[in-house]
Amino acid sequence: MIAIPLGEVVKAEVMAELEAARSRSLLLLDPIAEEDQRRQHSPLMAPLVWDLAHVGNYEDQWLLRSVGEQGVRPSVDDIYDAFRHPRASRPGLPLLGPAEARAYVTQVRERALGALDRVELDPDRPLLRNGFVYGLVIQHEHQHDETMLATRQLMGEDAPPLGGVTPAPPAGQQIFEPEVFVPGGSYVIGSDIEPWAYDNERPAHPVVLAPFWIDTVPVTSGVYAEFIDAGGYDDRRWWTGEGWSWRQEENLEHPQFWRREGGASWSVLRFGRRTDLRPDEPVQHVCWYEADAYARWIGRRLPSEAEWEVAASTAPDGTKQRFPWGDAEPTSLTANLGQRHDGPAPVGAFPAGVSARGCMQMAGDVWEWTSSDFTAYPGFSSFPYRDYSEVFFDSGYKVLRGGCWATSPLSARCTFRNWDHPIRRQIFSGFRCARDA
Ligand code: AVJ
Ligand code: FE
Repeated sequence: MIAIPLGEVVKAEVMAELEAARSRSLLLLDPIAEEDQRRQHSPLMAPLVWDLAHVGNYEDQWLLRSVGEQGVRPSVDDIYDAFRHPRASRPGLPLLGPAEARAYVTQVRERALGALDRVELDPDRPLLRNGFVYGLVIQHEHQHDETMLATRQLMGEDAPPLGGVTPAPPAGQQIFEPEVFVPGGSYVIGSDIEPWAYDNERPAHPVVLAPFWIDTVPVTSGVYAEFIDAGGYDDRRWWTGEGWSWRQEENLEHPQFWRREGGASWSVLRFGRRTDLRPDEPVQHVCWYEADAYARWIGRRLPSEAEWEVAASTAPDGTKQRFPWGDAEPTSLTANLGQRHDGPAPVGAFPAGVSARGCMQMAGDVWEWTSSDFTAYPGFSSFPYRDYSEVFFDSGYKVLRGGCWATSPLSARCTFRNWDHPIRRQIFSGFRCARDA
């Protein structure tokens, strides 16, 4: 992974990242038979061929046509418009087939590389400054790769194993405090300076926080299992009204992909392979309602996204850092990112990635649910188009922070905001708890 430094982004870096994103996408599709690429594996997800051609069409529209190149295939814009066609309806569209989709994305990419050769990354043009629009399509492709991973996981027992992954590092030996204190005060969240920050991360702005405590590590599967064993899923007291209705309606009894194997033991299905539950890994595949109920049961709460970002990115002297450990790009010693492994690493596995406040694994491993609704920051303006963020504000989405094991390091900066419905759990979602001081 090549570093995208704060400051000037150069064409060679952009080219390398375009290439890395594309080879990742194609590797994700390689082991999937064509008919399984066309099929819908869950109503929550599009067919995999939709994702691939959508990635190409996004680049066709937002890159080629915005830097003055000719579009490759404007006639398919409608089919690949995510906002117009909800995932459940996508199999009914006249989709390009697997081979056509590949040819399409390749053709778009050739033209995008040609354009990159010709354009100047002009600091006076916001779309081109630091290669912004290239950063947009690169991050977008990686986000869809994560979506395709969730689709592959939803193939259940039939899912092919993830190729090219190594075992996650062990927990390590160090002892750490369960929680850290963050004093109240005025802090800055969001960014004006990250070259590839999305519009929803801007502008940087002050927030005033009351003092709070936050967990040093995400909630593990082992302690989450105690909540299950204590009857947490059957005790209405821990759930919000909506959460309880959803729990009843869907008969939720444990995180998705878990199975009771008798007594206190659980197995977990991960990319087609069933393994024993690893109690020291962060729990994943929980929805916001489950995270919120667990927190209430243990006498705590979810952190707000501002609390989360302050714990991740600020030093006690107030300095704001790009990543929990500082400004240096992520490495395999600081975070579990970039799909090197097929899931989260045990808590404590990245002592070198500790935040200045003492929190661990805030980048990578699992997306962390926060208590916050997805809303616009004060002074927000959409860029380069409304449908990335603006149309999702104030619509009942909850914010997730920090990236997961599958997230590209390019989107692991502390200011990055992800969002989803509070019922969703096919994503690689977990959480950590906080409490008022
Ligand atoms: C930020 C993950 C919610 O998948 O809907 C992909 C990312 N935006 N294409 C999504 C996204 C446009 C988005 N999330
Ligand atoms: Fe998209």
